[in-house]
Amino acid sequence: MCGIIGYIGNKDVSEVLFHGLYSLEYRGYDSAGMAISDGAHLKTLKCVGRVSNLEDNYKNNEKFNGFFGIAHTRWATNGGASFENAHPHTVGKVTLVHNGIIENADSIKSSLINCGYHFYSETDSEVIAAFLDNELKHNNIFKSIQVLRKSLKGSYALGIIIDGDDCIYAIRKDSPLLVGVNQDEFFLASDISAFLRYTNKYFLLEETELVVLGKDDFKVYKDDIVVSKEFLTSNSESHSLDKLDYDHYMLKEIMEEPIVLKNLIDSYRSGENIDLYDLSRYDEIHIVACGSAMYAGLIGQSLIEEEAYIKVNVFPASEYRYKKKIFNSKSLVILVSQSGETADTIAAMREVKNMNIPTLGIINNPNSTMARECDKVILINAGIEVAVATTKAYINQVCVFALMAYTTSLSKGISNDVSLDDFDSIPVLLQNILDNSHVYKEVAKDLFEHDSCFFIGRGIDYAICMEGSLKLKEVSYIHSEAYQAGELKHGTISLIDDGIPVIAVISNSFLKDKTLANLNETLARGAYGIVVTTSELDDLKDFRKVLVPTVNRFCQSLLIVPTLQLISYYVSLYRGCDIDKPKNLAKSVTVE
Ligand code: AGP
Repeated sequence: MCGIIGYIGNKDVSEVLFHGLYSLEYRGYDSAGMAISDGAHLKTLKCVGRVSNLEDNYKNNEKFNGFFGIAHTRWATNGGASFENAHPHTVGKVTLVHNGIIENADSIKSSLINCGYHFYSETDSEVIAAFLDNELKHNNIFKSIQVLRKSLKGSYALGIIIDGDDCIYAIRKDSPLLVGVNQDEFFLASDISAFLRYTNKYFLLEETELVVLGKDDFKVYKDDIVVSKEFLTSNSESHSLDKLDYDHYMLKEIMEEPIVLKNLIDSYRSGENIDLYDLSRYDEIHIVACGSAMYAGLIGQSLIEEEAYIKVNVFPASEYRYKKKIFNSKSLVILVSQSGETADTIAAMREVKNMNIPTLGIINNPNSTMARECDKVILINAGIEVAVATTKAYINQVCVFALMAYTTSLSKGISNDVSLDDFDSIPVLLQNILDNSHVYKEVAKDLFEHDSCFFIGRGIDYAICMEGSLKLKEVSYIHSEAYQAGELKHGTISLIDDGIPVIAVISNSFLKDKTLANLNETLARGAYGIVVTTSELDDLKDFRKVLVPTVNRFCQSLLIVPTLQLISYYVSLYRGCDIDKPKNLAKSVTVE
């Protein structure tokens, strides 16, 4: 994880770097730092904690006018969140920022200690800086960076400044780096959001390339040869990074769900990528993803199996990449990712591609590694998500699966009782649901003082519970478990105590009584029951209830999950948690 921003140009460097750091803070917020240079002098500032701490620090220090700089926001991997471990790291003539993990750092470090280097942090990044400094004693900058690249094992995106030089150098492997280009100014960043305010023209740095950003121009080298780059233009709007009048990005992004859902359904109706939604030529599908993206995949599994009769398995990417994979000639692997940069999902994708199995990505970030490398891609176009807890991107991932199940079932001649018009009504219904904030606040009041909570459901409702439970624990730090309702009594029911909240999700009429019986088993042991269900199934009494309108079976989960997202939001609010940046997390998990 970690976020990198670099800038060279005529603007106030600190301003550009701070803006970039704030935009990248979703990638980690254990410490932050920056280095600014005028070519002759370099000033470094870093601190533990948030970018705002760094900015306060900066304001209390003497202003330094350089024309280029690099900055970093950290998610701790090697070594804790300390001042010593914060980036930039300076060793001798080298100052750098690093995103990634160097696997052979220990052996490099030992040989550098033998050469007389001392290390003050626990990081692999300081080792990179020392290695490069040592190389510079024998070679020029260009050659030294090439030697460095050949010597490092693992993942890295590096922004480098050398004492007495007036350029920014950058290389990468398995961690993203983009170069933004404007008249007379250049940007380097982990993600386009860091410089979108200034330019939407950019290119992606390839793994074999070295970019040198100078005052008047830039050069990209592949081996020793200068190569030309094709510029891309981003259509993402920088204003999507504004919080508007919302207190938190999470709330803003939940409130954007009706519109992003509508845009997705409209783009499907207009025929965009429509052939990718028809899965009828496959007879076995693996859905591979992490966290919420995997739980969107669980809903996909339920819908595709139930409605289109195709065998689907869902795997966490971290397991899938190392497991034995058995395919046939009609296998498809679907990879789901908001960021398109999740290390485990990327590794799984590359492995599957090496086995010549077709890959289909369901991706939000159009500029990401996965959007580029999957054989086929459906972009969910949910817009930039800032809150660490995903909400609107998850909803659009689920909607893609609903449309896939629907299209495939039609093309296989299985179902014709649902029409696309039934999808059209969902955004408006969702808007009404979101407007009922008092309902979710009441449920949140029931929950926020508890230490533990359970979600139970069967079939697709269990998949919904998985996401509801993850959301609650990640933003409120309440211990929460999602269980297949019938499984609870095989051991876990021993944890049910007086007053413990058990949230039952019931959207399936066929399984309603079964789940209800399981809920009653917990009530008999003192649990406090909350039911999330549909208006059609609502003949339940004596429960705290959340009701959503009954809609077609493809789309029901699109109305239920947002209620759980809002409950989590308000629980987190009442507990005084850091809603958009929960502890220990980062939005984009670019390490294994
Ligand atoms: C969700 O709220 C999480 N922050 C997390 O589980 C996330 O969904 C997961 O890390 C996958 O990320 P991706 O969609 O960017 O691949």
